[in-house]
Amino acid sequence: MIREFQDRILKLKKEKDFCILAHSYMSEEICEVADFVGDSYALSIKAKSVPQKNILMCGVRFMAETVKMLSPEKRVLLANAQAGCPMAEQMDAEVISEVKKMYPDYAVVAYINTTAKLKTVADVCVTSSSAVKICRAMPEKNILFIPDINLGTYVSKQIPEKNFKLLSGGCPTHARVEKEEVLTAKKAHPEAVFLVHPECRPEVVELADFVGSTAGIMDFAVKSDKKEFIIGTENAIVGHLQHMCPDKKFYPLSKDFICHNMKITSLTDILNCLSGDGGEEIVLDEQLRLEAVKCIEKMIEYGG
Ligand code: 13P
Ligand code: SF4
Repeated sequence: MIREFQDRILKLKKEKDFCILAHSYMSEEICEVADFVGDSYALSIKAKSVPQKNILMCGVRFMAETVKMLSPEKRVLLANAQAGCPMAEQMDAEVISEVKKMYPDYAVVAYINTTAKLKTVADVCVTSSSAVKICRAMPEKNILFIPDINLGTYVSKQIPEKNFKLLSGGCPTHARVEKEEVLTAKKAHPEAVFLVHPECRPEVVELADFVGSTAGIMDFAVKSDKKEFIIGTENAIVGHLQHMCPDKKFYPLSKDFICHNMKITSLTDILNCLSGDGGEEIVLDEQLRLEAVKCIEKMIEYGG
């Protein structure tokens, strides 16, 4: 059944000139039909360089919006219209504009997990793979980092010479994991290296052997000469890594480390979109797009 769906998808995407982009948190069966699988940063820039006129995003809404902002000439579909990132909805552009007035000498750095509207009040955008590099390279010494307090805390610790103001938002999936679960996993797998995403709580991040974005964690595990790994991010990564490195062992930090927003996209959604009957076409007001894209272009200028 899965194979049959995948074959129909592969045939249709060619006929209809679609490029399928999938975030690494998607299931194996979706990654198999994608033209490109990557983390938030890689996905955002990939669409620009592909020849297809239509992009189908298997991920969450802000990812499809980012693609549309950077490639307005392409038709961009979000495979499942319900796939949103709760963190992206946590802060309001009007409220952040007011906060900016209170701290006029602070540059606003927005995690890419934000709405298009919120990006209009940001000076620069970052992803988890580039947040430290960009905040360090920026000329401004004072940084208001939104919306992820955990990522902001991690970045601020790497750059003690700058002043950070953080607001309390974050990823419910990564922030849910507690220090005790790390201690239990380490006890169960004493030889394993612990790799963690910086969206996790500071006390969890402190126990890590390596901290990195989704792509950073995967790259580290693939290249490492170690044999066992506890994976401190969404459990899809455990499965992908086990598939890529059958001679190594990968353990989930928690069995509940699942982003349900990422998981609602199915092969059926993809098939429906390609059949012209499903998903949602991303349409952005041109003025909003022009204002929001500035902070993403700035991110790219800094080299991601
Ligand atoms: P990255 O893809 O930057 O690792 O971010 C993880 C995530 O939670 C995406 O929503
Ligand atoms: Fe949003 Fe967290 Fe899910 Fe990523 S893992 S889409 S940040 S809720």
